[in-house]
Amino acid sequence: SGASSAHNNDFLECLTLQFQKSNSDSDSIYTPQNASYSSVLQSSIRNLRPASNSGQKPVVIITPENESQIQAAIYCSKKHGIQLKVRSGGHDYEGLSYISQTPFFIVDMRNLRSISIDTEKKTAWVQTGATLGELYYTIAAKSKTLAFTAGVCPTVGVGGHFSGGGYGMMSRKHGIAADHIIDAKVIDVNGRILDRKSMGEDLFWAIRGGGGTSFGIVVAFKIELIVIPQTVTVFNVTRTLEQNATQLVHRWQYVADKIDENLLLRLFIRSFTSSRNGKRTVGAFFTSLYLGPVDDLLPIMQEKFPELGLVKEDCTEMPWIESTLFFSGFQGESLDVLLNRTQVSTTYSKAKSDYVRKPISEYGLKNIWKFLIEEDENGAELQFSPYGGRINDFSESEIPFPHRSGNIFMIHYGVGWEDNAEFQRHINWIRRLFNFLARYVSKSPRAAYFNYRDLDIGMNNIKGNTSYTQASVWGFKYFNNNFRRLVHVKNKVDPSNFFRNEQSVPPVSLW
Ligand code: FDA
Repeated sequence: SGASSAHNNDFLECLTLQFQKSNSDSDSIYTPQNASYSSVLQSSIRNLRPASNSGQKPVVIITPENESQIQAAIYCSKKHGIQLKVRSGGHDYEGLSYISQTPFFIVDMRNLRSISIDTEKKTAWVQTGATLGELYYTIAAKSKTLAFTAGVCPTVGVGGHFSGGGYGMMSRKHGIAADHIIDAKVIDVNGRILDRKSMGEDLFWAIRGGGGTSFGIVVAFKIELIVIPQTVTVFNVTRTLEQNATQLVHRWQYVADKIDENLLLRLFIRSFTSSRNGKRTVGAFFTSLYLGPVDDLLPIMQEKFPELGLVKEDCTEMPWIESTLFFSGFQGESLDVLLNRTQVSTTYSKAKSDYVRKPISEYGLKNIWKFLIEEDENGAELQFSPYGGRINDFSESEIPFPHRSGNIFMIHYGVGWEDNAEFQRHINWIRRLFNFLARYVSKSPRAAYFNYRDLDIGMNNIKGNTSYTQASVWGFKYFNNNFRRLVHVKNKVDPSNFFRNEQSVPPVSLW
């Protein structure tokens, strides 16, 4: 409407003026009239579903090159009531970094992606617009024995990922990304630039796993790097139902969280048509990383998991950095693919997570496989990610990420599709699976992993306030009892709820 476009123009004028004041040019402002607007908007979107359900497009996208442009964005957003959404890697499962139900604009961190590494102190400052691929590449270029523990997909952004946890192939040995944050640079609701000392331990606690968005804009994290051996071993062995997949997955549950913490045995489970007999079957892909040489790995497997029948020929030794290509499906390609930020996506997807604290029976597993057989081939996948090891060395309240001792593994289940005409069928499928799994997974609360964001588990009111009781529905699932402290921190640092989205921690008075 005319009124809202005038309003948008006022906002745009405000931004332009503030940018001029701080002597920065306006190249980093994209309006829908700008030829690059669509490509900038779409470049980091990995899931077509969220935007396909949302009518609103951002009024403006800005790609700040310095902190004063972020301060300007906060100032103008407050002044004109246009909601600010911050995006780092754009991988949010529900698209919360780039869609909204109310007029909004995007602060896209892509130009703030510097990484500086101190090999002597074994630390690094990473700006949040960097991707995991850029981080891994940059560390490996400096050192063969330093690395970082975070997720598998190279295009995931540091900003969202570290803010919500960050699980990867070394997490049993080294914990999650957020466990290794030792300082940060945050811009708060008043535009102040804070570091660990000036923000205080409450806010510093909250930003290490309490989820992006709620507390401010994180410009950079300082992390502790980890020490790795020069040679690691990878393998990916597949077993179908005919090759005892069910029994093996059953047995895996008694092994995966307890085995040597240098070993992470991740499981991907999919259904496919066997090329041998043309029948639909289920395949369990044991996709694993061992931090050491194959000759050390084999006796461990022989002792703890002989049923899998792992042999030397299944395994490949390589430097850690090459293992990041292996696990992200780029094996054999040049390391430069880690620097490729844009991957245009053609699929719609929906995913959910659960935590398993008691092994699922063979009978239960067989019933889960039925769901896989029923859904389109290649569309559905389960990932079983083992916990234990270093993850358990932290108490539940050390940082907001609460999923510690007592969890055997996390389930990630997802469904993807290319033809959106049948989207409701796919959504119904994953919701039915979620209902079915209830009997096998954690209860009261039924825990979920924040970085696998799922709005089905509860959300805030889009307009108006959200009560503590309402937010607790999703808050305790992601954060368990840490949710109370997160609300307390929110009350302190952003009582007006400027930084918000559909699942941000709301400020509500508890006491
Ligand atoms: P995005 O930019 O969408 O941000 C996510 C949320 O954080 C949004 O609410 C956003 O507003 C907020 N935010 C972003 N930057 C911020 C900043 N600088 N300051 C404050 N708030 C900010 N997870 C995992 O643990 N292990 C894994 O291996 C993988 N693998 C994986 C693969 C693929 C293909 C996808 C799509 C996702 C994953 N994930 C994952 C999940 C991933 O960790 C999760 O989606 C992260 O939030 C993504 O962070 P981005 O910065 O990319 O997202």
